[in-house]
Amino acid sequence: MKVPDARVVMAGYSAGLLSDLDGLLPPRSVLVLEEPEIIRVRRVHERAADFACLAGVLPAATQDEDGAVPMAAGMPRPEGVRAVIPGVEYGVVAAAALAAEWGLPGAGLPAARILRDKLALRDAAAAADIPQPAWRPAYGAGDVAAFRAAHGGACVLKPANRQASLGVQLLGPDDDIGAAWARTATADEPTLRAAHAIPGRYLVEQRLTGPEVSVETLVREGVPVFFNITAKSVQPGRHPVELGHVVPADLPSQTGDALHAAMSSLIKATGFECGILHGEWILVDGVSPHLVECAGRGPGDSIDTLIDLAHGGSLLERMLTLLQGETPALPQAPVRAAAIRFLTAPHGRVREVTGTERAAELPGVLEVRVAVAKDGNVAAVTNSWERPGHVVATGATAQEAAETAERAVAAIAVTVTDDVEGATDAGTGDGAE
Ligand SMILES: Nc1ncnc2c1ncn2[C@@H]1O[C@H](COP(=O)(O)OP(=O)(O)O)[C@@H](O)[C@H]1O
Ligand SMILES: [Mg+2]
Repeated sequence: MKVPDARVVMAGYSAGLLSDLDGLLPPRSVLVLEEPEIIRVRRVHERAADFACLAGVLPAATQDEDGAVPMAAGMPRPEGVRAVIPGVEYGVVAAAALAAEWGLPGAGLPAARILRDKLALRDAAAAADIPQPAWRPAYGAGDVAAFRAAHGGACVLKPANRQASLGVQLLGPDDDIGAAWARTATADEPTLRAAHAIPGRYLVEQRLTGPEVSVETLVREGVPVFFNITAKSVQPGRHPVELGHVVPADLPSQTGDALHAAMSSLIKATGFECGILHGEWILVDGVSPHLVECAGRGPGDSIDTLIDLAHGGSLLERMLTLLQGETPALPQAPVRAAAIRFLTAPHGRVREVTGTERAAELPGVLEVRVAVAKDGNVAAVTNSWERPGHVVATGATAQEAAETAERAVAAIAVTVTDDVEGATDAGTGDGAE
């Protein structure tokens, strides 16, 4: 196989990441490896050609997690390669396998496998006494019903290896478990996940309550060297899709310390070596971090942008430096705050979207994106891809940034005609939670 030379290899195509790398790397620096099926469905050759940093796109079995080692062994090493990064959640294991094969810093294959499997992650966290909800694997509706009955009539049903809240359902005592199981078992993202990729596995968890946060940390040789806490809000109801994030989270220092300790334990428990982690935690009773999940890649939902706005510099550049075996300059503390807020809209056929310009002109607002347009559909949001848009704002404090983002969202009005069936037309972004 002829491989174009490249400094960085990306396992799984991400337009967002390529766009960011355009600002950091010389032309023709990045080789994208992607599943043939995804290359076709997402027209990757055509779309990736827009980025100057692209060196080429090669078909590879980046989602065949069981076959990751032979895939890496069979992949010719680009002569100048200095770093391997996962472009998408489904490329985390492939990136780790390639880095290991080529002798470059990376997650480490055992850690990557744990981070791609919520059941394996629960086992690893339990072995390290990291607080987390009770859980068990679920093979059918009966398992979910039994677990719910044993846990006070509430539970969370989720796939073990998806993202973006796809198929995640918060269930109460009166919810129909058979219907819920059917919905979770069929939740998929065919434009991002290859059909041959590992089959779905599911788990059911105790339902925790409390403020939700994520922790983004850069890790070098198993040691966290940068640490950020993001506050998150989630839409109410059965489908816990993120509604907003604020950096830095406004938390007492003891809670920050507890999160730092919990995340450090998790790094040890997984054996994660080098790169970035995006860990999600619920603060039970407002103070005690309990693990929701952890991804072995950069955060989605523009959290990386919020971190850059708040801390200065580029999280991606720092991660790339680490993955090249070097030590980046790291910021000490945030210098301002930044927030993203996702739009919500009534369900139906869109008649009009107003207020977008007014929102964009508000002081502190940096970005307004509306993903629905006249005559498009808006339906119930059940995963991150279906959200109808977002705004990004900054402020001197977390509260100010969050309030500005909320004001901007409130300025935008989506009016709809009578109800229509079907999914929201918002389309697929790159990298959610
Ligand atoms: N055990 C739990 N208790 C309460 N809420 C949960 C629990 N597990 C997940 N959630 C909610 O569901 C969301 C999505 O679940 P998560 O495990 O993070 O899956 P995904 O990989 O799709 O993001 C979380 O951000 C959180 O809001
Ligand atoms: Mg999540």
